[in-house]
Amino acid sequence: MLELKSLHYRPATAEQTILQGINLQAHAGKPVMIAGASGSGKTSLLEVISGLAKPQEGDVSWQGKTLNERQRRWLCGVVFQFPERHFLGLTVAQELRLGHRRLSNEIQTQALNKVGLAQIDLRKAPERLSGGQQRRLALAVQLLRKPQILLLDEPTAGLDWSVRDEVLELLAKIAKEQVLIVVTHEPELFGNWSRMTYQLNHGTLTRVSTQQQT
Ligand SMILES: Nc1ncnc2c1ncn2[C@@H]1O[C@H](COP(=O)(O)OP(=O)(O)OP(=O)(O)O)[C@@H](O)[C@H]1O
Ligand SMILES: [Mg+2]
Repeated sequence: MLELKSLHYRPATAEQTILQGINLQAHAGKPVMIAGASGSGKTSLLEVISGLAKPQEGDVSWQGKTLNERQRRWLCGVVFQFPERHFLGLTVAQELRLGHRRLSNEIQTQALNKVGLAQIDLRKAPERLSGGQQRRLALAVQLLRKPQILLLDEPTAGLDWSVRDEVLELLAKIAKEQVLIVVTHEPELFGNWSRMTYQLNHGTLTRVSTQQQT
């Protein structure tokens, strides 16, 4: 179980506290969805959880043990809101093979199939893919890495509805074995995908009651 306890985050460059007293528990098998308007702190929260940013107060623990930033970076896989800023490979194939030098063609093809990129040209530069394809490539990279905690920032952005439904189905499957946290400003697209729904409002997190989740 991943547990966040009273996280407060205010980077030196921020005028106000961005995250205020965040408490959250996330379990494998129970995907968490955090909805919030633009600027509510969704991306910042994922940066703190994944060890890319350091909170001023609070605690992030895994199976009851507090984790430092380095341990969190190791344990978490993030699919970023703007994946194009994070690609390192010169081609799609290289991107998939980062950290997997011995990746077999079969496993690579499976990962691409899962995210609906079976037809992709492996020699293409990741930056030249469409926004939705970039997001799915970044997800395929994380599927290959199999982090214990998977964090997705706006996973439905740039996906048309047919692909979106496939991606949501895939995420439901992934969530059975991994802790999965999704942040989004369009929760209505997820339907009943998560029973653990939260609302982030100006850095404060509240549980959305189950009655509201028809
Ligand atoms: N390093 C930083 N320094 C200063 N301000 C920051 C920093 N990071 C985030 N902020 C501010 O914190 C607030 C929350 O930003 P964040 O990117 O987490 O929001 P978000 O919910 O992801 O928004 P969006 O839906 O537009 O992606 C914003 O007002 C942003 O300007
Ligand atoms: Mg964001």
